Amino acid sequence: MTVVQPSRADSATAHFDAAREVLVAGISGTARENAALGQAMLAASGEGPYIVAPDGSRFLDYFTGFGSVILGYDHAGVRAAIEQALDMGIIHGPETVYQEQLARRIVNLVPSAEMVRFANSGSEATMAAIRLARAHTQRAKILKFEGHFHGIHEHVLYNTHPEPRTVTTGEILETSADSAGIPAAFADAVIVTPWNDLSAVQHAFELYGPDIAAVIMEPINYNAGALLADIGYLRAVREITRDHGSVLIFDEVLSGFRTGTDCAQGFYGVTPDVTLLGKAVANGVPLAVIAGRRDVMSELAPLGQSAHSGTYSGHIFGVKAALATLDALEAPGVFDGESGLLAMSERLYSGLRDIFEHRDIRCRVQGVGPRFALYFGLDPEVEPRAYQDIAGHDSDTLKQFARACYARGVYFHVYEVVVGHHGFGTAHDARIIDETLDRVDAACVDLAAD
Ligand SMILES: Cc1ncc(COP(=O)(O)O)c(C=O)c1O
Repeated sequence: MTVVQPSRADSATAHFDAAREVLVAGISGTARENAALGQAMLAASGEGPYIVAPDGSRFLDYFTGFGSVILGYDHAGVRAAIEQALDMGIIHGPETVYQEQLARRIVNLVPSAEMVRFANSGSEATMAAIRLARAHTQRAKILKFEGHFHGIHEHVLYNTHPEPRTVTTGEILETSADSAGIPAAFADAVIVTPWNDLSAVQHAFELYGPDIAAVIMEPINYNAGALLADIGYLRAVREITRDHGSVLIFDEVLSGFRTGTDCAQGFYGVTPDVTLLGKAVANGVPLAVIAGRRDVMSELAPLGQSAHSGTYSGHIFGVKAALATLDALEAPGVFDGESGLLAMSERLYSGLRDIFEHRDIRCRVQGVGPRFALYFGLDPEVEPRAYQDIAGHDSDTLKQFARACYARGVYFHVYEVVVGHHGFGTAHDARIIDETLDRVDAACVDLAAD
């Protein structure tokens, strides 16, 4: 398979100029814009690890649909599952046998899952889970962490990408909404602390413990690149929430199925009360999962009083796609085999580190499983642990790098305001990773020549 060299003059520009007349900003969501390119990527199709542009240019893709397409763009099993769903008719009012099958698979794989409810997006799942936690505890407040993103609604859209600043240990941060149009009253129910600072969580519980319904976190904070939790910190947060009767929610919409089929909770050995999955669970077909302890999940209507339902909840396309995705992810060697995702991660990250060192580019490459951050301007040897450690990263160099890679046929998605994350999936084999490294190296030479 040859990679056609994309031309630097982007043929997509004319399309987006026309699209702006009828589509807000010419795109279907803010995050589609690639700040490095000044516009979104215009695709005609996807094939394995490639995005194919309308002019036939093929880009080695390190975006993978916001982290959802873990098996590549044309996985035969997922395609067959969707075809089976089509053959059934677009049926999504009655239940079928497949929702139960998928729920059972998730219960078997994910340590915290005893019961399951399906939703359509990560945002819907976090919204439902927070209401569920509030119903279960009869409390209002939630505690979230700086730099963690949980979707686009009023209950969680706070402090996802604040300006760089000095934070003192134990500090409870000022709550700051990331969108206009959020009534101030919502902020009264949100407490924000820095990630990996146990004293701040303790402080929050000292002040507000009896009012805290839930602590919600990305157990691997991919939305700030790839920030791991200290294991002692995570265990302590588990203990504090248990002691105070608060619901611990792991938002694994991004971290689910990155380190193994038991997700980040299996990776750490820390089990939350409620888990949210999305993205990779159905390889890019819309589906989200709310899963958790039986007594908490029983709070959902019609067993309990916490409302959750939807025209498309448990839609057959997503459910069938997820069954096929889990079949593929559960195959031996997918994560830890010789050419599994973890080995490919190491191959890519060590290759990138070598290139940056050789080309004298200061960049911290930090990955957990097949998702990673490129923190330009930060010390390559120092592991950042919290949002403020990376808030000052050099986003201009990231944009220049992504532009240079794009010209060499490698696609990195760069957000305007958030740090962002990159990643790959099972379609990126050793040959693809090596080809990527060659192209990235050439891009770095171009950068130096610019
Ligand atoms: C950790 C996390 N939670 C929730 C969401 C929201 O998911 P969705 O975009 O499907 O609404 C995202 C999306 O990026 C996410 O990364």
